Amino acid sequence: MKKAIITSALPYANGEIHLGHVASTYLPADITTRFLKLNGTEAYYFCASDDFGTPILIQSEKENKTPEEYVKVWNKRDYEDFTSFGIEFDFFYRTSSPENISFVQEVFKKLQANGHIYEKEIIQFYCNVDKKFLPDRYVLGRCPYCKAEEQYSDLCEKCGRVPAEIEDPKCSLCKNPPTKEKTRHYFFKLTNFANELNQWLEADSNLQRDVKKYVQNWIKEGLVDWDITRDMNWGVPIPLDSAKGQVFYGWFDNHLAYISTALKFLNDKGLDGKNFWNAADIYHFIGKDIVYHHYLFLPAMRIGIGNEYKLPDYIPTRGHLMLQSKKISKSRNWYIGLKDFLGIYPTDYLRFYLALITPYSQDDLNFDWEEFASRINSELIGNIGNFVNRALGFTQKSMAGVVPNTTEFDQSDKEAKEKIHNFSSDLTSLMEDNSIDKALKKIIEFSAHFNQYFQKKEPWKGGVGSNNCVFISVNAVRSLAISLYPFLPESSKRIWTQIGMSGSVSEQPWSSISEIKIMEGHKIGTASPLFKKIEASDIEANKAKLGK
Ligand code: MF3
Ligand code: ZN
Repeated sequence: MKKAIITSALPYANGEIHLGHVASTYLPADITTRFLKLNGTEAYYFCASDDFGTPILIQSEKENKTPEEYVKVWNKRDYEDFTSFGIEFDFFYRTSSPENISFVQEVFKKLQANGHIYEKEIIQFYCNVDKKFLPDRYVLGRCPYCKAEEQYSDLCEKCGRVPAEIEDPKCSLCKNPPTKEKTRHYFFKLTNFANELNQWLEADSNLQRDVKKYVQNWIKEGLVDWDITRDMNWGVPIPLDSAKGQVFYGWFDNHLAYISTALKFLNDKGLDGKNFWNAADIYHFIGKDIVYHHYLFLPAMRIGIGNEYKLPDYIPTRGHLMLQSKKISKSRNWYIGLKDFLGIYPTDYLRFYLALITPYSQDDLNFDWEEFASRINSELIGNIGNFVNRALGFTQKSMAGVVPNTTEFDQSDKEAKEKIHNFSSDLTSLMEDNSIDKALKKIIEFSAHFNQYFQKKEPWKGGVGSNNCVFISVNAVRSLAISLYPFLPESSKRIWTQIGMSGSVSEQPWSSISEIKIMEGHKIGTASPLFKKIEASDIEANKAKLGK
């Protein structure tokens, strides 16, 4: 049996999940996992809250909580929000777990034994006003590479690189220029890995070509060793006497939680976690802002411990979600929280729309309220919902809910049957390729074909072809239900019940979307409309909430 481990970028435990998160990362990963499971892969989807880092420590202090208490709240809340959006993790853990802490410390010791760690005295920014060292997000300045202003010292949002030293620095709290103080830090020798990283990038044909290209360019321009130490106490303690009061940088420990979380789950399940990892296809779903970390730091660290855990096979990388064509911003309230959204519309509406507009590329995507309403009303409801309800409703009303005996197939019956027959080959490669937007469009096209077929055959007139039309249409509904399962799990289950199928839709073999499985004499369940139209006036109200 094929194996797969799927992860998506770990959400920081300091804020709620919004539409931007789910569009680029969690939904594509969830759709892929559900597809792989249906298609016979032993697949597990893992995630965790990203608990460490200065912003989290500061925020917990403001709220008079210990950082442990603080991250616990967000870990729980994020998990609940994901679950209500139908994101089905096999295990959702945390980077501050005891398993991750000891795993990170072990990895560090192996890297050190292998000669990839060195100690260096560095000059660290220090704010005399705020009386503290200023790591990462606490320093703003100009990117030394692309000269973009107002960038944080740990990541340039314009060019995606990690600045070696930010120019014209300012403390992000008080805006005063910081002074410099000496401290001793540990460095990871990223420069040791240029060749091996290049080889891996060349060899892995599953990686997106455009991302690969700019990562290889970064390598060509020269990598910089990486400061993995922070002078604070919220983080994984550096396991050395010489590093008292210091912890690892959050980006040193967080991605290791992909592995430690998988090991915990798999070992608890009685499997050999490490063997499983190394036998599986590894997918890390991310947004394009964290390419540097996933295409350089993460693989370099895995190589650095002797490839004990294999490198990723896929790193599906997607662009940012814009909202009404503008950048999402929480402070300007140009933003929609996932929980708020799901308080207004069903989960599957959002899954449907986002899956449809999310390409497998770096291109940014755009959430537009009008487009959302029109896609839902015309494609989800007018096309898919309509066909399902017509086919099942007619069977219920005119055939007493029983799939009738067929007669000889005419040309359009044959075409329709052929459509079912080809459905899997049309769809599977798109799903395997990560082209989930195109795959969903194929499903919509399939449904449109059957709407037309039904319309053309006019079974309500009771002509000779009526029985064939019902027989084939009910089978098409079955294929639709299974193919929609990765995208719209809730609706798919409801369709499954309405067709009167036994067992659960999630246990059907994917390839059976191309088979005629419902036989003459099958009794369907109870047909009822799946969806409710979105009103234009509600959309106006939703739009009016933005930016206020
Ligand atoms: N918390 C990080 C972010 O939101 C992502 C961490 S992904 C991992 O940008 F690889 F480090 F786990
Ligand atoms: Zn830059």
